Amino acid sequence: MTAHAKPPTNDLEAFWMPFTPNKAFKADPRLVERAEGMFYYTPDHRAILDATSGLWCVNAGHCRPQIVEAIQRQAARMGYATSFNLGHPKAFELASRLAQLLPGDLDHVFFTNSGSESVDTALKIALAYHKARGKGSKTRFIGRERGYHGVGFGGISVGGIVGNRKQYGALLPGVDHLPHTHDPARNAFSKGQPEHGGEGFANALEAIVGLHDASTIAAVIVEPVAGSTGVLVPPKGYLEQLRAICDRHDILLIFDEVITGFGRLGAPFAAEFFGVQPDMITMAKGLTNAAVPMGAVGVRGGIYDTLMGDGAAGIELFHGYTYSGHPLACAAGLATLDLYRDEGLFERAAALASGFEAVVHGLRDAPHVVDIRNLGLMAAVELAPRPGAVGARAQEAFHRAFDEGLLIRVTGDTIAFSPSLIADPAHIEEMMATTRKVLETID
Ligand SMILES: Cc1ncc(COP(=O)(O)O)c(C=O)c1O
Repeated sequence: MTAHAKPPTNDLEAFWMPFTPNKAFKADPRLVERAEGMFYYTPDHRAILDATSGLWCVNAGHCRPQIVEAIQRQAARMGYATSFNLGHPKAFELASRLAQLLPGDLDHVFFTNSGSESVDTALKIALAYHKARGKGSKTRFIGRERGYHGVGFGGISVGGIVGNRKQYGALLPGVDHLPHTHDPARNAFSKGQPEHGGEGFANALEAIVGLHDASTIAAVIVEPVAGSTGVLVPPKGYLEQLRAICDRHDILLIFDEVITGFGRLGAPFAAEFFGVQPDMITMAKGLTNAAVPMGAVGVRGGIYDTLMGDGAAGIELFHGYTYSGHPLACAAGLATLDLYRDEGLFERAAALASGFEAVVHGLRDAPHVVDIRNLGLMAAVELAPRPGAVGARAQEAFHRAFDEGLLIRVTGDTIAFSPSLIADPAHIEEMMATTRKVLETID
């Protein structure tokens, strides 16, 4: 049969869905077709309260008119221009605005289209930087167990989520991993940053440096708060200690802020929230309120300057994407930054955080709950796994919650909450009340 002879179908089969059990989903699909503010709407007009900001990304709420209109205007004016040897004003404007928002001397921005591409870009910049300063032997990367850095080969190599790695062979060579920081024996039910283990977990980096020698290590990459693995908040002192060790050994520190950027913790970036300055920040998601795909890497001036060099004026970094600085994404990004500023959404998140913490920890006595963790507007409620069926209980909770009009996110047996920064306390109460009801009805 030729392609032309195929009958038109729309039977759910053709779309190979990402990170989804396709057969199970297609047997029992859940669809949404409209969104506004804190809610999705199903094709039969049921409202679904979104407790996950889409996928940690719609930080300013769904379908905000200012962003929609900015995209519409840009689409009509100029839908595309390359950023290779050509420029358009909004890409420069957005980069300048981001440079202002980024902490310290992170004052240059490389545009990508996703978090995964941002991570690969940052890793490549780290290698190119060391090579440019005559330290080409610094090629190793250090990630962390349970880390999530997207799905490119760089990201899964430095990442530490087994399921994302085991199907894909040997990955990048020369990568090592820090231990994860989850220590429920000492830190279960911590409110905010856990008390115990910070120095010890960070000092594992010294052991790794001892094993490989600093002259072989390019960069350490961590999520300041590990998100996708189920919200692991860094113990007190941990990030500070990582920074000190990286400084001691001339190793770059990359914060992957794809989730923590743009107000999730009540500050523009986690780096500012924790008072720890990384050498690069990877971002995506909240950058455009997820209305158009876009990612970026914020880079310290010294790194940029080193790569610019003082020699011939050729291409300094052989890297880029057809859609780097895409005009629609830039328009969405500028409108999103305006909205964050004009509505004081980062401050709003900071103000909501303690109430959010109290309400989430109110689930402590709900059935199956073995741990609760939170920081800013991100939280996790971990359930005891069913014997021999890890993840099944949380998956059932996810389905029941959807039936009850609530969208949650689950990984393993952990339920994650990351409401939009426009949430009202009443929305947060409703999220937890529905979650309690669901936990009370599943075995
Ligand atoms: C910390 C982190 N890095 C990278 C990514 C990958 O982003 P994307 O799915 O846009 O490629 C994610 C996605 O959740 C993330 O949480």
